[in-house]
Amino acid sequence: MRQAGRYLPEYQRLRKKFTFWEMVTKPALASEVTLQPIERFDLDAAVIFSDIMVILHAMGYKVSFASGGPEIADPLNPADIDSLQKKIEPDRITGRLDFYADAVSQTRTALKSSKSLVGFAAAPYTLASYLLEGKTSKNHALIRALMYSDPENFKKLLNLIADASITYLNLQIDAGVNAVQLFDSWADSVPTDLYEKMILSSIYRISEAVSERVPVIFFTKGASLHRERLEQVYDHGISALSIDWRLPVDFYKDRPVQGNLDPAVLFCDPDTVREKATEILEKRGHKPGFIFNLGHGILPQARIDAVEAMVQTVRNFKP
Ligand code: CP3
Repeated sequence: MRQAGRYLPEYQRLRKKFTFWEMVTKPALASEVTLQPIERFDLDAAVIFSDIMVILHAMGYKVSFASGGPEIADPLNPADIDSLQKKIEPDRITGRLDFYADAVSQTRTALKSSKSLVGFAAAPYTLASYLLEGKTSKNHALIRALMYSDPENFKKLLNLIADASITYLNLQIDAGVNAVQLFDSWADSVPTDLYEKMILSSIYRISEAVSERVPVIFFTKGASLHRERLEQVYDHGISALSIDWRLPVDFYKDRPVQGNLDPAVLFCDPDTVREKATEILEKRGHKPGFIFNLGHGILPQARIDAVEAMVQTVRNFKP
């Protein structure tokens, strides 16, 4: 999950001198920020410092973070979906992502070989919401309206985004990431029958294309809503489901899972953190195929002593 960012004083120090976009697009800065949580907490894996919106920049959209959250200047009109075809040509995308490849390879070189480097992309539905709305939406209504009114174009849009994402992830893999994660951050806004019928295939299009190269982790914020329909993902190139904090961590008994401490636990005192982390470990930590993680990205209010207590609890757990 997101592990770098504003809760870290060393991130804040850099962030005073540079914009978020500068930090993402200057490889030396992106690499430094990627390594900050590893240096401080000795975590097992680093998540390359970037953002899901970078692929839209590569497609030629003007992406900005000037007001905090992401924004694109010229959101896609559903009538223009076919125009994406030329925006997603592989050479065009890779040609605009030299900074990303450099950030990955510099970080891979700096990281000990025992530590993994994780690359990522948005899942197509989540990215499509940004593409149509131009910013983080409260209800993601535009993309669902397209799903209801014009299912064929909706599917076409998701597949075009999936194809762009395959190029984007292959570039990250070529540059040295050891695993990739797909983020379906807005999955919980979709009725569960439609999530299965209209959306999962666009995720498999990506996972099946890259899973021979590296393991694919699939985060869906909405695992509890879609729980009955998610087990099939393991048959489609996905190595592990990353589940949010609302589903019991042992729901998929014998399947590899990642998760799922509530990010809000990290606002609490260290004793509470130890108790809550131990509950997860006791439920799932004794079986293979478990990656301890948060159930969603770390929040700016997370306490450093809480993160330390979490890491210590995981390291000391004896299955
Ligand atoms: O180094 C790492 O740990 C990787 C970090 C990472 C970022 N974005 C950095 C970031 C990752 C994995 C992402 C993915 C991302 N970006 C997602 C999917 C994951 C999720 O959390 O659901 C989404 C939906 C986005 C879009 C996005 N980017 C939003 C909604 C925001 C504003 C968030 C906020 O907390 O204000 C961003 C900006 C962003 N991306 C920040 C960081 C560290 C904050 C930027 C800052 O002001 O310093």
